[in-house]
Amino acid sequence: MVNYSTRRRNEANFNRDTLPKSHQCLARESMTALKNSGIRIVILLVFQTLWMETSHSQVPASPAISEEIAKQESIYQSKGEQVPEGYSIDRSLVDYTRALPSDFDAALARLGPNDRWLDIGAGTGQAILDYYTPDYDVTHWEGRERRGRKAQAVAMSIEDRRTPRWQQDATSLGAGKMEYLFNRRLREYSLEELGQFQVITDVIGGFSYTEDLSLFVEKTLGFLDLYGSFFTVLQDVRSEEGTNRPHYAGAPFLTEIANAEGPGVSVCTWLKSITCVQVRCEFKANWIPPLEAFRVRKVCNDVKVPALVPMHYVAGTPPERRFQLRTPPPATPVPTGATR
Ligand SMILES: C[S@@+](CC[C@H](N)C(=O)[O-])C[C@H]1O[C@@H](n2cnc3c(N)ncnc32)[C@H](O)[C@@H]1O
Repeated sequence: MVNYSTRRRNEANFNRDTLPKSHQCLARESMTALKNSGIRIVILLVFQTLWMETSHSQVPASPAISEEIAKQESIYQSKGEQVPEGYSIDRSLVDYTRALPSDFDAALARLGPNDRWLDIGAGTGQAILDYYTPDYDVTHWEGRERRGRKAQAVAMSIEDRRTPRWQQDATSLGAGKMEYLFNRRLREYSLEELGQFQVITDVIGGFSYTEDLSLFVEKTLGFLDLYGSFFTVLQDVRSEEGTNRPHYAGAPFLTEIANAEGPGVSVCTWLKSITCVQVRCEFKANWIPPLEAFRVRKVCNDVKVPALVPMHYVAGTPPERRFQLRTPPPATPVPTGATR
């Protein structure tokens, strides 16, 4: 039985029917949990020396992180009543449109039958199911002719959350339209097996849950076609302007990037330091907790993602994470009198 009663925060509320009220409820519940939790599970992980050799690597199996990863795994694998409150797996395409950057809707509607859409961390794949309905065309009249039978859509999830509705729609659409990949994390796929996509989305999926953010982004951008866009979102993070505070008093931001030499940087700033991409960040202060949505457009192929060292990871919905920018190794001094 998964028991996360000590968790103090859950995924941002996406229920559009009860938005303002439920947002307030969610905030209150989380605050109560914060007060009642007593013990704050904090596991500080200092891995920097373990990351010296490679530009990106996976989290080593220290007992502390193994414990958190095991808890996180039990959230992924939870079924029925065991699914923790706050682990939302069936957001609609309308929910995606509201949470993601404002130009996501048009970018998806522009895709033609030879294009491809990857949804990382798709849960039940409800957003993809919504995309293939006739209702989608009714509400996205423009470009309907060009869109034709629509793009191929690939849902990716660690655990298999396919529903009878998914199986039914996949069969009736025929081979090559909807595909559901599971049992592996994004980083375990190769370019050869997955190919490239014109649109990639991640709504509180791997981008919010991974313990190795720079590797995750590097892999994602590898799967993105040239001039394609990655649309994603994080909750409770330092905004690009850096004027907001963590949503819960006394708690850190949910995802933080620290800098060994000074104050931390925002996720937006870090994304903007990647080569060969154009990044736009949209802060959405009216969500509880607030969201920041990101559009990352690939404009050339020589993508280099500044490495982040995982420092802290606490399982949850989503987990609490802190990364540190890896400082480049000091230049080796050239001995006096040496010739080159
Ligand atoms: C909270 S659910 C979100 C589901 C869906 N996006 C929604 O909004 O309803 C998180 C999803 O992310 C997936 N996930 C987490 N980390 C992942 C990773 N590294 N690679 C692929 N999927 C991942 C989980 O398996 C799950 O399907």
